[in-house]
Amino acid sequence: MVTIKSKKEIELMKDVCKIVAEFYEQLEKKVGRVTALTHKAIEDAIKPGMTTADIDRIAEETMKKYGAVSAEKGYDPGIRGVPPYPAATCISINDEVIHGVPSNKRIIKDGDIVSVDLVALKNGYNGDAARTFLVGNVSEEAKRLVEATKQAFFEGIKYAKKGNRIGDVSHAIGEYIKSQGYSVVREFEGHGIGRDMHEEPEIPNYGRAGRGIRLEPGMTLAIEPMVIQGKPDIWELEDGWTIVTQDGSLAAHYENTILITENEPELLTIL
Ligand code: MF3
Ligand code: CO
Repeated sequence: MVTIKSKKEIELMKDVCKIVAEFYEQLEKKVGRVTALTHKAIEDAIKPGMTTADIDRIAEETMKKYGAVSAEKGYDPGIRGVPPYPAATCISINDEVIHGVPSNKRIIKDGDIVSVDLVALKNGYNGDAARTFLVGNVSEEAKRLVEATKQAFFEGIKYAKKGNRIGDVSHAIGEYIKSQGYSVVREFEGHGIGRDMHEEPEIPNYGRAGRGIRLEPGMTLAIEPMVIQGKPDIWELEDGWTIVTQDGSLAAHYENTILITENEPELLTIL
């Protein structure tokens, strides 16, 4: 028999369901772990002679193994003339900054720096992270760039705390990059993330401290410094996706999805 609940009962139902919902919400935010596991698989596999399509395949298989799919594959940016994104990951080598499209013609060479940016989607939630991998014998200058890009993220999240503002994070990232003699990519930025890959707020990698929205526990954010060794200017290639540096200098990318808490932020895409 189907019972009809009184007003009071409905209130109690709502109350208990909220606890369950809250629990699942927390669990599902852990989708970030899939992204981390996928990056680990790539790090173990990446070798000179492989193509970027090989890496893309490894990433897709790893996501599948953990019950996730790529949120990037088929992603439609809603810009006229730009086709939906055709691959599972973005792989950008050397002077390519972001959104390099994997191809079986693109062979990874000794000394390359290879940025892999991927978004796993599971149970309706997205986890976004990027790493720049060093392949074989990489120059000291390239290593320093990759290290500084990673450090810029950690400088930024020192401010990713309840009560601080987005501008505090952006400012810290931008100032650190400048202090190292590098350029910030201004046309692309970090973002909120959750059910959608890109949610509010926008998180530029430069800005003024004390500006922007206040951070609150429960916010999930993708923080992602994109750093150029030389001048900040970029070009988009004819494929409508690949972003390269105009001066041909190297670029690096480092990104994690984080959770704002009552205390220190949790890094959801680090194992
Ligand atoms: N992962 C990128 C980001 O950090 C977006 C990739 S664009 C896509 O926001 F088309 F590849 F999905
Ligand atoms: Co992102």
